[in-house]
Amino acid sequence: MKKTSYILGIESSCDDTAAAILKDNQVLSNCIANQKIHQSYGGVVPELASRAHQANIVPVVQQALSIANIDKKELSAIAYTRGPGLLGSLLVGSAFAKSLALSLEIPLIEVNHMQAHLLCHFINNEDQSPPEFPFLGVTLSGGHTQLVLVESHFEMKEIGKTRDDAIGEAFDKCGKIMGLNYPAGPEIDRLAKEGDPNAFDFPIPKVDGLDVSYSGLKTAFINLVNKNSMKNPNFIEENLNDLCASIQKTLVTVIINKIILAKEKYKLNRVVIGGGVAANSKIRSVLTEKANLDHWEVFLPPFQYTTDNAAMIGIVGYHKLLSQQLGTMDQSVSARLSL
Ligand code: KG4
Ligand code: ZN
Repeated sequence: MKKTSYILGIESSCDDTAAAILKDNQVLSNCIANQKIHQSYGGVVPELASRAHQANIVPVVQQALSIANIDKKELSAIAYTRGPGLLGSLLVGSAFAKSLALSLEIPLIEVNHMQAHLLCHFINNEDQSPPEFPFLGVTLSGGHTQLVLVESHFEMKEIGKTRDDAIGEAFDKCGKIMGLNYPAGPEIDRLAKEGDPNAFDFPIPKVDGLDVSYSGLKTAFINLVNKNSMKNPNFIEENLNDLCASIQKTLVTVIINKIILAKEKYKLNRVVIGGGVAANSKIRSVLTEKANLDHWEVFLPPFQYTTDNAAMIGIVGYHKLLSQQLGTMDQSVSARLSL
């Protein structure tokens, strides 16, 4: 019989310091220290993020072990985010993971953050079984927007991407101009529920193939807000819900159109989404509606595995441990690690 493994997952690619303990594919603890410091700057300040990771990493790992009720000596392997992400932030997580693996004399496993956003669907979940291969993976985050052909756990090929801003970045920048706190995505989602999605019209950018573009749309939104605010200083306040609903509808339509195109082109019957923006209620409802109507399957991640977390790093670690894809001490982090 296979021996039970206990994996410590460590995530530090951006502004969340996270640690999780998995018993095989089951999450025993999933802890996150959010860095509030970036809110007053309207975006992540890399230097401050690295410092906060330094302060948070030991307490977060200790908390994860304590909630899981296991001792560090029981760990079978340590999985950490190697990239992509902010270099200084990645260095804190990787240096910690390497030191602990070395001292405990257990395997170290490097994990690609974007693969992890999709593979979170393989975490044991009573409500939904994991997707079968092949499937169309869609990663929607603050730094990435990718369409991915996924043939197996580790055979992933990018077939479409954003040519400029990521979808989460577009949400955050549109939110910033309306005076919302960083990250603005969740707040836009909430405010949009009371707004009219057809109140303001934005053109859908025309981009060939499976790529998308968000920067023109973001600029069109900022221009509309600025122009109207000059005429009416209360424009944002008076139209906040409608502005949120209209821009959300357009940002979501852009990616949904390409998901449908990619699905048809590659004859795929399963769509799996991941990343922070996969928490968006509009994306979730539109995809569910379309899937029901046209008889294909959509896999929506549980909310706790959408935004950055370490459970998703742990599950990749588990699958790599099973297939003995172990890391080495001389592997360095990479800000632009590709799939
Ligand atoms: O995956 P993630 O936690 O970090 C990156 O790897 O980038 O994604 C963060 C992004 C932010 O841009 C945030 O505004 C967005 O996810 N986000 C949302 C929602 N929840 C988080 N965007 C739209 N609607 C949401 N409900
Ligand atoms: Zn992420």
